[in-house]
Amino acid sequence: MRIEPPRPARLQGAAFYVKILIIIFLRIMALRAVQEAAYMRMVDLIIDKREGKTHTREEINYIIREYTAGNIPDYQMSAWLMAVCWQGMTEREVSELTSAMMHSGDVVDLSDLPGIKVDKHSTGGVGDTTTLVIAPLVAACGGTVAKMSGRGLGHTGGTLDKLESVPGVCIEKNIDEFKDIVRRIGLCVIGQSGNLVPADKLMYALRDVTGTVESIPLIASSIMSKKLAAGTDAIVLDVKCGTGAFMHTPEQAKKLARTMVKIGDALGRKTVALITDMDQPLGMAVGNGLEVREAIEVLSGKIKEGDMLYEVCMLLAENMLMLSGLAEDDREARAKLTKAIETGAGLKKLEQMLTALGARDAKACIADPDTLCTVKKKVPVYLNGEGYITGMHAADIGNAAQKLGAGRAEKTDIIDPAVGLVMHKRRGDFVKAGEPVATMYVNDESRLEEAVKTLRGAIELGAEKPKHEPMVYDVIK
Ligand code: URA
Ligand code: CA
Repeated sequence: MRIEPPRPARLQGAAFYVKILIIIFLRIMALRAVQEAAYMRMVDLIIDKREGKTHTREEINYIIREYTAGNIPDYQMSAWLMAVCWQGMTEREVSELTSAMMHSGDVVDLSDLPGIKVDKHSTGGVGDTTTLVIAPLVAACGGTVAKMSGRGLGHTGGTLDKLESVPGVCIEKNIDEFKDIVRRIGLCVIGQSGNLVPADKLMYALRDVTGTVESIPLIASSIMSKKLAAGTDAIVLDVKCGTGAFMHTPEQAKKLARTMVKIGDALGRKTVALITDMDQPLGMAVGNGLEVREAIEVLSGKIKEGDMLYEVCMLLAENMLMLSGLAEDDREARAKLTKAIETGAGLKKLEQMLTALGARDAKACIADPDTLCTVKKKVPVYLNGEGYITGMHAADIGNAAQKLGAGRAEKTDIIDPAVGLVMHKRRGDFVKAGEPVATMYVNDESRLEEAVKTLRGAIELGAEKPKHEPMVYDVIK
């Protein structure tokens, strides 16, 4: 054994003084940070943003922390949000804002579940029942899908409302129950836990009434903070573009997609974004039970290749398999997914998930999904005249379904799971005189007339077939 000679006393003394100096330096820095926070004033930060300056991380943390704690009043937060709408944020600011929001409440830890956990999120569309197709398919191919969903407000219900149209299903589970289901069957979709990103709950409610929803940094941080707090390793985003979406042009949608992918990268999660068309409803069904039935039709092979809902589901699922390391490329992924439809493995996963969520008879519901949309009356809807469908206002088609009771105008409204509408035509199709363009599923006729009027107003007819538009504009990695 070698024994180190003792260091000369002079050197030991120097090391001691260096240590003391470092401690004093750190103390001063900590004190300055505390003082800065104490001296930060929201009004100065509003003015800075108004003038187009960038915030430091400390400033962003201060805004989110103090607003969530109730120490910054709504009027100041509104002014700041409006300044962000006008002046924007740098990439660094958006990532720091997202991180501050994400840490404003609980952050779910899924690290004790095996494999790569993957989530999927859509920026919101009409007739978008993709989750109910994709989650089971990806799980059937060996993936692990752990998804927390929010409730829908506006045109139609969200995924949770769709799930709840199946008798017995309850989407309120605690984290341990959620993880247990994922561990057992490879997938689960539940309602977002109560204390996930409280900053976003407060900010979104404020943005909704102050004209500050439509801002890329604010939308991106709102969505990504919730996805990141939900704890998955990989995220596939479906950014909608068109008349039924927040982003009306492919350019805007690409910008939002790029911003979200960069946030994912900056915060260490694999993220891919697809930009897909929302100039017409994605599926033919708009309504909760109706959309579950349509998802079952895709999973059982009744709806086939070439259909818009089918194709968008496949693209999203392919990317989820690739991010999960279960396929080298999209061709291998597509082959696995097609097989999961052919063998019925995907449908089986949906049944298992519905059962795990409390469905009284998931098997019977899947065998006869018409029971999910049994209504008093089915009403065909006709247009005035004939011609090609040259345009559809997707959001208004959603609004028509909402008037029948398929969606909420207010948070407290109660959804009727069976009602809604089924489109018979798509953009570019020819509608003959006397041919119904849709069928409405009705229980309460009090707003039927209004709903028919809204639907008619949402469809444009023309003499010429419109030029083909892509279903998918871009994939951003
Ligand atoms: N969806 C969200 O969760 N947040 C937004 O800001 C917009 C859409
Ligand atoms: Ca379009």
